[in-house]
Formats: sequence, C-alpha cells, structure tokens
Amino acid sequence: MRTRVVSGMRPTGALHLGHYHGALKNWVRLQQDHDCFFFVADWHALTTHYQQREVIERNVYDMVVDWLAAGIDPKRATLFIQSRIPEHAELFALLAMGTPSSWLERVPSYKHQLSSPDGRDLATFGFLGYPLLQAADILIYRAGLVPVGEDQAAHVEVTREVARRFNHLYGQGRAEPVLVEPSALFTETARLPGLDGEKMSKSADNTIEMRDPPEVVEQKIRRMPTDPQRVRRGDPGDPARCPVWPFHQLYSDAATQAWARDGCTSAGIGCLDCKQPVIDAIVREQQPWRERAESVLANPKQVHWIVEMGTERARTIARQTMKDVREAMGLAY
Ligand code: TRP
Ligand code: SF4
Repeated sequence: MRTRVVSGMRPTGALHLGHYHGALKNWVRLQQDHDCFFFVADWHALTTHYQQREVIERNVYDMVVDWLAAGIDPKRATLFIQSRIPEHAELFALLAMGTPSSWLERVPSYKHQLSSPDGRDLATFGFLGYPLLQAADILIYRAGLVPVGEDQAAHVEVTREVARRFNHLYGQGRAEPVLVEPSALFTETARLPGLDGEKMSKSADNTIEMRDPPEVVEQKIRRMPTDPQRVRRGDPGDPARCPVWPFHQLYSDAATQAWARDGCTSAGIGCLDCKQPVIDAIVREQQPWRERAESVLANPKQVHWIVEMGTERARTIARQTMKDVREAMGLAY
C-alpha cells in the first residue's frame, strides 16, 4: 500500500516561484510513489480573507491549473476543493469539543499574526481555529504523511495531539485507533526569496508568477535591486549582499555561479550581464508549465471534471471516517 499524503494550498493568488520551489515541486515528486490527496484550502483562505471573497473565488480553479501546469497528474493524485466536502467541517466541529483552546492560542502563526496586524482583523474565532481545521483536513483521510515547510510544522504537531486525545477519549478498547497520528514530512525544499530579498509573497508584490510571460520575467529580473554598495559599474560587489544571488544559487550550475561571483567581486561584469543566465533559466523552467497550462485552458471543462472526480473520491473516504468518528463519540443514533 502506498502511504497516504495529504496537503492543501490556500487560493489567495496566482502561484509563484516560491510556491513552486517551496511545495509544488515536492508534490510532483511525491505523487510518483504515494497516495496523494491535494486540495484547495478555500476555508483556510477565508480565515484571513473573509473580507475579500472575490480573491478566493478568482483563484480556486486558477490554482488547480497551476498544479496541472507544474506536472501534477490527476491520474496519480486526488485533487479536490475543501469546501465541497462538508465532512471536514463536521470533523472540525467534533474535534473542537475536546480541544483545549490553549493548544490553539499557543500556535506560533496565531500569536505572530495577532501581534503584527496588517490591516486585517484576525482576532476571530475562525483564525484561532485554523490549526484545528487543518487537523480535520488531515485526520479525515487518515494520512500517514503531511509534507510541510517549517512554518507548518506546529500545525502537524497540533494534529498529532488532537488525534491522540481523540483516541484516548473515545477510542479505548479498540483494535485500531479511530484517528491516525500523521508524521510531518520535511523535505529539503529550496527557499527562494522575492525580488527584493524579502520573503516572496503576493502581498509584498515581489513575486515572479509561475505563468508570468517571458518578457515580464525579463523585466522583473532586470529591475531587481542588487548589492546596494555596487553603485557604479566599476565598483566591485559582494554576492552575499545581493538579492539576485539566491536566484543564482537555485538556477545556475557551479560554473555559472563561479563566473558571477568572480565577475561581481572584480567588477568584471555588470549586473545586467550577471542577471541574464537567471532570466534564461527561469524562462526555460516555465516553458513546460506554459505548454501544459495552455492545453488545460483550451478545454476548461476538463479542469472541472478533474476536480469533480477527485471530490467524489475524497468524499467517499471522508464519509467512512466520519461514520467511525460518530460511532466512537456515541452519535450513531
Ligand atoms: N495551512 C496550510 C498552508 O497555509 C494549508 C493547509 C490547509 C494544509 N489544510 C492543510 C496543508 C492540510 C497540509 C495539510 O500552507
Ligand atoms: Fe548582484 Fe550579480 Fe550585480 Fe553582483 S554582479 S551585485 S551578484 S547582480
């Protein structure tokens, strides 16, 4: 039996290279030899974007197109939309009964967001419940593995605690635990900062989107700031101070990196020379994405059909788990 993997992404904007290198690329690898369930976490998006429903609406199917463009294969992986499976909400509600609120209040993403308000009011019950909803997403499929970056590790930890507590409260004396404790799967994924050297994110307006056309990629990279101490062409620079350098580290081979480093520190090359191999590598990487997206978009019904099939498949499993959960909690009247 292939190990079951569950992961979701929030549909809050077009996917960018940070998403691809930080998560999606890993999904494409995982689908080869795992039973993968990948879903659009639209309820999770609403916990932070409850005042911007149009953002979510616009991005749900676009995100699935980005997944398919990246090489997610609907014959291998089950693709669906969270809100189409109300059992996630039912499990969330039932798990909430026995989950101490302190477990949620101490999750770093919650504490952090509350202390750095960016105009949104996140002092909501929904946002506090974010990790518990995520636990329901995972536990309802009895996932073995959840691929995570560091920022999500605490959520998988809460998920494990919630499962353990549920089994303790309601699952005593059974041959099999009702809920399965998942493991976090840490894979070395590349961290690609944004065009300004900060974390790549839509809100910081420093992204390269997966489906940015070549001329936009070229323009964005050419306008990137470089080592602030390299004011004139004749000034030597230091790649360690330059936001372009992480792009070389991800996209360039050793020889090109050596060329850029030497050229920079000796002022032998200009910054635009230095950026060109990065532009070329990104455009090359995007080429198969563009081709796949084009063929998907030529037949929009197909994406809906893929999601329809995936939702059906996922819901069958979710229903079975809820049957067991209701029975364990004494709700099988
Ligand atoms: N919180 C995740 C993120 O922001 C998205 C998510 C929702 C998720 N439910 C999940 C990830 C279940 C893994 C498993 O990236
Ligand atoms: Fe950055 Fe390259 Fe310019 Fe050096 S030469 S400052 S590494 S862009």
